[in-house]
Amino acid sequence: MEATGWIVWDKQPGVERRGIVTPIEMASTTMRRGFDIVRVMWGGCYRAAGEERQPHPTQKPIGVIAPFIEAWTKQNETVLDPFLGSGTTLIACERLGRKCRGIEIEPKYVAVTLQRWVDATGGTPVRLATVDSHSQ
Ligand SMILES: C[S@@+](CC[C@H](N)C(=O)[O-])C[C@H]1O[C@@H](n2cnc3c(N)ncnc32)[C@H](O)[C@@H]1O
Repeated sequence: MEATGWIVWDKQPGVERRGIVTPIEMASTTMRRGFDIVRVMWGGCYRAAGEERQPHPTQKPIGVIAPFIEAWTKQNETVLDPFLGSGTTLIACERLGRKCRGIEIEPKYVAVTLQRWVDATGGTPVRLATVDSHSQ
């Protein structure tokens, strides 16, 4: 598949002078033409106001994820994030009225996501099934 567009996250002027290795990040897309730029300050301890740091090394700001969910999905549609990490996509979906299905391989980050979701919604997570990966 050939990329037709680019998503560019500009971490804002000044971030690169504070020891951040990548002042921008890019992703290719086949869903858009040209490029979309999001400007959200984020670099370790330097971040946009209101963004809470989670114990995950590559947490993304909600302000980077949310504009794309908003532009490319409608209310109540489902977003799949197969690398959920600290749960940023899940929280963005909650705020925007989208459903989210997430996969995360590390139990400690699943725990981070669940706590983040509880803090954001006041809800109670429900375990639907347990998969024993050792029995496969
Ligand atoms: C770049 S991080 C995602 C960060 C996330 N967007 C956030 O804001 O927190 C990628 C995540 O994918 C998880 N991961 C890696 N391989 C995986 C796999 N095969 N299945 C599910 N999750 C996986 C890692 O444990 C890591 O938490």
